[in-house]
Amino acid sequence: MQELTPRQIVEHLDRYIVGQEDAKRAVAIAIRNRWRRQQLDDELRKEVAPKNILMIGPTGVGKTEISRRLADLSGAPFIKVEASKYTEVGYYGRDVESMVRELVENAIGLVRDKELVRVKEEATHRVDERLLDMLAPPPVSFEVGVDSPDSPERYERTREKMKAMLLSGEMENRSVEIQIEQKAQAMMIPGLGPGGDSVDFDMQGMLEKILPKSVSRREMTVSEARKVIFDQECEALINEEKVNAQAIELAEEVGLIFLDEIDKVVATEGGRGADVSRQGVQRDLLPIVEGTTVQTRYGYVRTDHILFVAAGAFHKVSPSDLMPELQGRFPIRVELSDLTKDDFIRILTEPKGSLTRQYAALMKTEQVELEFLPDAIEELASYAFAVNQSTQNIGARRLYTIMERMLDELSFEAPDMGQGVVKVNATYVRERLDSVATDEDLSKFIL
Ligand SMILES: Nc1ncnc2c1ncn2[C@@H]1O[C@H](COP(=O)(O)OP(=O)(O)OP(=O)(O)O)[C@@H](O)[C@H]1O
Ligand SMILES: [Mg+2]
Repeated sequence: MQELTPRQIVEHLDRYIVGQEDAKRAVAIAIRNRWRRQQLDDELRKEVAPKNILMIGPTGVGKTEISRRLADLSGAPFIKVEASKYTEVGYYGRDVESMVRELVENAIGLVRDKELVRVKEEATHRVDERLLDMLAPPPVSFEVGVDSPDSPERYERTREKMKAMLLSGEMENRSVEIQIEQKAQAMMIPGLGPGGDSVDFDMQGMLEKILPKSVSRREMTVSEARKVIFDQECEALINEEKVNAQAIELAEEVGLIFLDEIDKVVATEGGRGADVSRQGVQRDLLPIVEGTTVQTRYGYVRTDHILFVAAGAFHKVSPSDLMPELQGRFPIRVELSDLTKDDFIRILTEPKGSLTRQYAALMKTEQVELEFLPDAIEELASYAFAVNQSTQNIGARRLYTIMERMLDELSFEAPDMGQGVVKVNATYVRERLDSVATDEDLSKFIL
């Protein structure tokens, strides 16, 4: 993600998201800024703080979609979390610091993947050698003399022959015996799910170190053993400490946390009960966004330079209802606009995985060719727009309900139709939607 220019990032996002140019630009610039900061000398680099972004826009216009697609451009540690799933420290639930732990987990994954690529060749070589040791074990001691059956030369020859057979795949079904080391059973301790997420210190990791590892021997075929040994050799070749250190650095320097549903942690008027805890989440968020140190199972992580992109619909509350300190941490505001009928037309047709393509592909599994004519698309978009106006505006999500309704009959009948072609035109759409869409009461429930 680091080397992409803002224009390239926007181009990638354009493939999936219609319109919302401001939001795309803002995230693209923010990501490029991480790379720019990386190029600076140490002293100045410390000074440059990330400019966090707040995306504001009605529901269903692409906020979450932008972050989801941004995640595809991996390369930097990236996670997407919902602010509403956290609770204030002290309350039962997930505390906000766990998002930093999640980010580090993501970074570990990235660094490990890179390491795996690096050691792959060496590991594969070692696998063959170890398999050979098992298939043609070297004699306990070599006798001198070229003709003796246990001479080194003779053993070399056997091993070479064996190797040729192994490489040609003739030995795949032979069975061998392998030692397997099992991690201590700490996984089983309740409340310490993998990752031990809400635990302040690394209980899981500690137990793994203290408890004895159990070693068992298992018999399996060469082809099964190959995978097991490959994993073992990769483990041996990868320096865990180095991976952890690199991952922490990566998370600290270029980590990105997408904080969705930020408006859900704003207390509404007369707040009590759950609202108190929400306000508390904002207070807990503050130090993390501002820069603090969080303990993770891989080490301490400084959050000063992690970039935060927050998003919210801000229907009932406005960004100014956030705690003032928190507002200040999100200096870049981008508004996403309501979607128009033309946007709907483009959303239905342009993205690679657009709804029309999805439905056509699904019908194809039933040997039914589904085709949408331009006037049908136009009609669908108008209905979506009109229903959004007359009932609740749920943005592009309306297209899902409209499409589902329109194709209800076909979805049911398709398997019994036999092969066929269905061309959807404006009349087809109108016949199936008009009665519901024009009746406000009906469309409230059905569309
Ligand atoms: N501008 C757009 N271009 C293409 N698809 C869109 C666009 N906006 C929304 N969609 C589609 O509509 C659906 C809902 O969008 P999304 O999840 O991004 O909404 P949101 O803005 O996060 O809303 P909320 O505030 O309710 O979370 C997604 O499936 C997405 O593909
Ligand atoms: Mg969303």
